[in-house]
Amino acid sequence: MEVLKRAREIEREGRRVIHFEVGEPDFPTASVIVEAAKRALDDGHTGYTEALGIPELRNAIADDYRLRFGINIESRRIAVTSGASGALNLLFSVLLNPGDKVLMSDPGYPCNEAFVRVVGGEPIRMPVDESTGYQPTVEIVKERWTADTVGVVLATPSNPTGSMIQKEQLKSINEFLAEREAFVLVDEIYQGLVYEPDLDAVATSSLAIDPELIVVNSFSKYFGMTGWRLGWCVVPNSLIEALERAAQNLYIAPSIVAQYAALAAYSPEGLGVSEERRTRFQRRRDLMYRGLCDAGLEVPLKPEGAIYLYANISSCGLDSETFSSRLIEEYQVAVTPGTDFGSHRAHEYVRFAYTAAEDDIRRGSELIGRAVRRFRNEI
Ligand SMILES: Cc1ncc(COP(=O)(O)O)c(C=O)c1O
Repeated sequence: MEVLKRAREIEREGRRVIHFEVGEPDFPTASVIVEAAKRALDDGHTGYTEALGIPELRNAIADDYRLRFGINIESRRIAVTSGASGALNLLFSVLLNPGDKVLMSDPGYPCNEAFVRVVGGEPIRMPVDESTGYQPTVEIVKERWTADTVGVVLATPSNPTGSMIQKEQLKSINEFLAEREAFVLVDEIYQGLVYEPDLDAVATSSLAIDPELIVVNSFSKYFGMTGWRLGWCVVPNSLIEALERAAQNLYIAPSIVAQYAALAAYSPEGLGVSEERRTRFQRRRDLMYRGLCDAGLEVPLKPEGAIYLYANISSCGLDSETFSSRLIEEYQVAVTPGTDFGSHRAHEYVRFAYTAAEDDIRRGSELIGRAVRRFRNEI
């Protein structure tokens, strides 16, 4: 957020900034979705809806799991929420009691810590690095496990590394947790933004491994609807009533306009736009990967998903915060230091979001190359 604030100040001074810090697709929402929202308003859809979402949308999400991924999920197990953030808030509010510990990756999505803390839980970070594809293994889970641990949060593809969990990794973690009656929550918000994944990776949904897992998802990324604040979760039958009560109390219902608009995301046209954008993200990933390697940075993992590359900048002789701050001040390139995502080797890494046009990626990589040479010369 500090980098973004500084980028905006520089832009107000009239200088151009290349943005690799923004964690949202830079495309506007597909027009078929926008048109559906306008129609919903014209049709008078302006009130509250059912707390877990309109039945049409819950059915459409269930149909999509079946049609695109071959996974059968009853629509009653799907709760539509205010973004994945809303789903995570709701889930932790029903899953946790004060003092309960929840394991999560470091580096990982930073807000999970806050979601757990706000209901009195205690987040426990599991350090991960390139040796396990930036995903926890069951051995790492076991190392951190204590009597008061009640669950694990995973993310595939992950933010900030774009790494995907392997089927065997997920299966063994799931088995270990099932024996302890603990929950496995998989954040799949980057589902669909996947580029030729390894055959051993969970390429569609973790629900294909175990339909009883808790899965969180969103219309924000693949469907390009960040500002509409709409997501969902799939939960075991035993949780749905508690979730409904929590939703009714905490925010009543997700936005009605966003829900009617989201129905159009599943139309052939809507899915076509998302797929076309996915191929553009794949080209950008390749371009940025090459650009960062040519700039002399080490990118330990060419990610198979999401919209990020996580690069090691330690050869520049700077920590990630100084690197990021000098990059914006001296080259007007905005990136996110690893310290935003945890503490494990966070000073060595920077996240690059390829949410910018291809020309910006080319120009930005060239500037990063110049910066790297200058920083190394100063050592
Ligand atoms: C891994 C992950 N989970 C959840 C979210 C929250 O997304 P939203 O609330 O927009 O659906 C984000 C946003 O960047 C994310 O990267």
